[in-house]
Amino acid sequence: MKTRLWKLDKKNSEADFKALEEAAELIRQGELVAFPTETVYGLGANGLSDEAAKKIYAAKGRPADNPLILHIAKKEDILALTSDLNNNAKILMDKFWPGPLTIVLKKSGLIPETVSAGLETVAVRMPSTKMARTFIELAKTPIAAPSANKSGRPSPTNAKDVLDDMDEVIAGIIDGGSCNIGVESTIVDTTSAVPMILRPGGITKQMLEEVLGEVKLDPALLLNPQNDENFKPKAPGMKYRHYAPKAKMTLFEGKDALENLFKSLLKEDFLKQKIGLLISKDEAKLLAFKLKEWEKKSEDDSSIKPLNKLLIYSWGNNKKELAESLYTYLRMFDHEKAELILATGVSEDGLGLAIMNRMRKSASYNIVK
Ligand code: TXA
Ligand code: MG
Repeated sequence: MKTRLWKLDKKNSEADFKALEEAAELIRQGELVAFPTETVYGLGANGLSDEAAKKIYAAKGRPADNPLILHIAKKEDILALTSDLNNNAKILMDKFWPGPLTIVLKKSGLIPETVSAGLETVAVRMPSTKMARTFIELAKTPIAAPSANKSGRPSPTNAKDVLDDMDEVIAGIIDGGSCNIGVESTIVDTTSAVPMILRPGGITKQMLEEVLGEVKLDPALLLNPQNDENFKPKAPGMKYRHYAPKAKMTLFEGKDALENLFKSLLKEDFLKQKIGLLISKDEAKLLAFKLKEWEKKSEDDSSIKPLNKLLIYSWGNNKKELAESLYTYLRMFDHEKAELILATGVSEDGLGLAIMNRMRKSASYNIVK
């Protein structure tokens, strides 16, 4: 299948509108179209069609027990999708929609089996970019959309990354530039008395507590799935290997993270490999000093081996910048054929919870503390 690409100028132009209309027509015909949201690119299909939703699972290689999020253009569009619009859900819609928050509710009879993957609930989200909402509105149906990557790979945050995974697999891609949040939406289950975060994301626990009072975190999120047989997260997708770059990744956590990373760099067997580093700007500065010292030593003393060329990606100095560029950098390491990736973590407060959840999975829980 030839994949169409619409590049938007994002000036609300007639040309953009025409592109969105063409893309929406493909959705109505039951085809798959990838589109940007504020979090990551979604792989869209008609969310009320079992057949269209099935194509998503085939294109991604997605396990059949992993349900899809329905994306809507207007708040009132949720009414047809749930049999119980509870009070907590109303508060969340009011406060955080449109935005990077997915709400889980009891499903209505309209939801196809394939979308809810056999659950009694449905996950709904209203994205904040005007372009995404116009696209959904033109499609005249809720759009089911997982992240537009092949299952297990990092989510795409630009059209080129979607193309890498989905070229000739789907009908089209709307190129609306880079996503500004960079990690997937927060998922909150509102079907129990105390709402529960099933996946951390751009809307933090603190932000939710401000409007809801008590909010729980799915206890499974704090477990290491490799050591724990009882790892049964309530969002089925959280149990799968995710966000993985091709190279083996090690994540350094805690206050000695950079020091430990540096020591690893000097290991004999590492010296021969192409190593990618994912660190903050401040850490990159500190590391540059250490590397210079090491180089000097190896010039003066032939028994000390020089380091290989390193591929250093530094993301800035705050968590927002890390969230925005994390998946992009993981995919760039793949393109550059890094053989090993060494990364440092951040503290788990605020956006840090979502970031560390993704980074630990990317590293397959290969963590040095
Ligand atoms: O930011 C996002 O949410 C992006 C953009 C495209 O909107 N979408 C996204 O979809 O991340 P996906 O399919 O990659 O992740 C959806 C997650 C999965 O872990 C899935 O198991 C969970 O949502 N989920 C979907 N429906 C659910 C339900 N009814 N109950 C619990 N978890 C659900
Ligand atoms: Mg995903």
